[in-house]
Amino acid sequence: MFDNLPVPGRNDPCWCGSGKKYKKCHATSDAKMEMLYDEGEDVLPRSLLKSAKDIEGIKASAAVNMGVLDYVGEHIKAGVSTMDINRWVEKYLSDHDAVSADLNFEGYPYSVCTAINDVVCHGFPSENDVLKDGDIINVDMSTIKDGYFSDSSRMFCIGNVSDERRRLVETCHESVKAGLAAVKPWGHLGDVGAAVNAVNVAAGFETVEEYGGHGIGKEFHEDPFVSFVSKEGTGPILVPGMCFTIEPMVNAGKHDITIDKENGWIVRTKDGSDSAQWEVQLVVTEDGYELLSW
Ligand code: MF3
Ligand code: CO
Repeated sequence: MFDNLPVPGRNDPCWCGSGKKYKKCHATSDAKMEMLYDEGEDVLPRSLLKSAKDIEGIKASAAVNMGVLDYVGEHIKAGVSTMDINRWVEKYLSDHDAVSADLNFEGYPYSVCTAINDVVCHGFPSENDVLKDGDIINVDMSTIKDGYFSDSSRMFCIGNVSDERRRLVETCHESVKAGLAAVKPWGHLGDVGAAVNAVNVAAGFETVEEYGGHGIGKEFHEDPFVSFVSKEGTGPILVPGMCFTIEPMVNAGKHDITIDKENGWIVRTKDGSDSAQWEVQLVVTEDGYELLSW
C-alpha cells in the first residue's frame, strides 16, 4: 500500500493485532485509504491508527489524566499558587502509578502547564504566581500510564471573573465542541480547525496560529499537526482509529504571540490580551468520534 507497510492475505490475521481475519477487520478501511491516496488525498500511514487494545490503554491513562483535572477543579481557588498545582499533580500521578508526559519533554522542567490570563500556553508553575480573584487559568495535563499517553486541559475561573473573560472562556469551549462536531470519518482534518476558528472569529476573538493539536497515543506528539485556522476540505483524511487532540488557544485581542526569551517556553499574547484554551483527546470512529480525555 501507499504507506509501504505489509498487507495481509484476506484470511490472515489483521495487521492491527485484533486477532481477527484481515477481511473482517481493516481490509475495507485499508482499501478506502488506498483509493483516497490514489485520488491525491493526504492519507497518513496506518501505523498511526490505534487498535482496540491501544484505545483501552489510552483510556486507562486518560482516567488518571482526568482525575488530576477533577482534583484541581475541586481545590483551585484564590490564594493557591501554580506550584501548589504542580505538587498536587505529582502526588496524584504517583498515587496512581502514572507519570507526567510534560516533565522533561524537550526539556520542559515541570509536571504540568499553568497559563494565567495573558499566558497562552506552556506556563511554568511558580511559588510566585498566586491566583487572585478574577483570574482565568488553563491547567494543561498530560499523563503516561503503561506506555500510553493522554492529554487534556481545562479553564478555571477564580472567584468573580469579568463578563469579558467569562465570554472568552466560554467561546473557546464552544469552539472545541464545534470542532468535535466536524470530526467525520473519511472527512478532512481541515474541517475541524475551520469549525473551531469560525466560532472564535464570530465572537470577535482570534485563534493562535503557531500552536495546534496533535496525534497522540503511543507518543506524546504524533502526526498529524492539528491547525485551528485551517480551511474546509483540506489536510489529512480522518480515518477511524486516528487519535488526536483539539486544543485551540484563543486570544481576546490579536492572535500574535511571544515566547519568553529567558526560558524559551512561556507563550504570551503579544498585545497583553487574555487567552483561553480547552483541550480534548478523541479517536475517530466509524460514525464520528469517541472522546477519550477532556
Ligand atoms: N500539554 C501540551 C499539549 O497539549 C504540551 C505541553 S509540552 C510541555 O500538547 F513540554 F510544555 F509540557
Ligand atoms: Co496536547
